Amino acid sequence: MHCRAPQITTHPGITNHLTQFYASLPFEQTKSSLRMATQPPGPSCPSTMRAWKCTSSGSSRTCLTLQSDVFLPSLPLMGSKILVKVSHASLNPADLAFMTLFPYWLPFRRHPVLGLDFSGTVLEIGSSLPPDCEIKIGSKVAGAISHWDVGLGIGTLTEQVVVDVGQVALVPNNVEWLGMGQAAGAMGIAGQTAVCMVSSGAIRKGMRVLVNGASGGVGGLVVQICEGLGCDVVGICSGVNKNLVMGLGAIEVIDYKAHQDLAGYITARFGGRQDDNIDVIMDCTGSQELYANSPKYLKPDGKFINIVGGWSQGVVPFVRNKLRPVILGGVPRDYILFLLSANGLLSKQVAEYLENGIIKKVPIDSEFGMEQAVEAYEKLATGRAKGKIIVKMAS
Ligand SMILES: NC(=O)c1ccc[n+]([C@@H]2O[C@H](COP(=O)([O-])OP(=O)(O)OC[C@H]3O[C@@H](n4cnc5c(N)ncnc54)[C@H](OP(=O)(O)O)[C@@H]3O)[C@@H](O)[C@H]2O)c1
Repeated sequence: MHCRAPQITTHPGITNHLTQFYASLPFEQTKSSLRMATQPPGPSCPSTMRAWKCTSSGSSRTCLTLQSDVFLPSLPLMGSKILVKVSHASLNPADLAFMTLFPYWLPFRRHPVLGLDFSGTVLEIGSSLPPDCEIKIGSKVAGAISHWDVGLGIGTLTEQVVVDVGQVALVPNNVEWLGMGQAAGAMGIAGQTAVCMVSSGAIRKGMRVLVNGASGGVGGLVVQICEGLGCDVVGICSGVNKNLVMGLGAIEVIDYKAHQDLAGYITARFGGRQDDNIDVIMDCTGSQELYANSPKYLKPDGKFINIVGGWSQGVVPFVRNKLRPVILGGVPRDYILFLLSANGLLSKQVAEYLENGIIKKVPIDSEFGMEQAVEAYEKLATGRAKGKIIVKMAS
């Protein structure tokens, strides 16, 4: 049983009325939630929790503060909300963008809690969740919140978080090797993005898929899903990560550091006969060079899928690549850029890939304790992570 602090001070008379009111309620869960909401915190009932707040702009060292006086979410929960005791959070490059891109004085920016991915245990459920909902108090869940949520102050580098039930899926309990850290890493942004890339590429058995950035959080999962669906996967990463990527199922690895003219090397390797060409390129690094040269090695009906946003790698190339006609120098290959809208159905798809063995491992670069989130972000900011970086929130 966990405890709630009242967010508003209640007069004893009002508390009496509330006590009578919740005694008349039919649902035990709602009663207990209301009871907790009206109880004053005792010594065994903490009213606050710890969370990493982003209190200025810049690097993680300058702008992140671990605060221990953040109010616990208030109960009872309305609608389809659930309260999750966060076990692990996993980090994403988007968190770094949030720290640096948005000045902290913007009204929506305020002092948000950072973090998108999480895994944890459900402590409370909202009043409108149907009794047959598979997510119940005590369920182990994982998923990701949206970028908007972070802007609104809800992040996952915290001890407890309230999310909509539609943002999570159950962590599979029949995958022996799967811990809650790996669940956060796989079922959060990285795995959901991998699922979307695979569906955007209409991936099917027998395809040849080239994954650029194959050793990263997203790339490592894309490699496994494509291989598991019966594709021949070629990964691009630096030489030190060759064994990692081969171990994820790639049949060949190209060391981008060993080839000054990477596109030239890929052309020599996969250009020429159409049978040798690539069906889909999954680009997790935002390489315009790879797209510009793609007619030399990507099939005419092939797809180039880029997930890297921003002005220089996302928006401007997207407009140019989509709109410029071939006659004016446009590239005659389908170009797709998307921004993930995180949701529990995508987490569920990742869970299915974990359960049926298509995802055989979740590469974890490193795991940090809750107090070490700054160091964890510094590692992420090097751009050299081999898989996911995890922060363990619960002791
Ligand atoms: N559009 C969306 O919705 C969406 C969703 C998720 C992620 N993203 C974006 O996708 C990108 C990848 O995300 P992530 O989580 O996978 O990042 P990550 O885990 O931080 O990626 C690190 C990996 O990138 C590799 N890498 C760096 N430069 C490379 C290069 N030039 N060529 C090949 N590999 C290179 C590194 O390998 P080496 O050390 O071997 O170089 C490292 O293993 C980020 O920019 C992220 O913001 C977008």
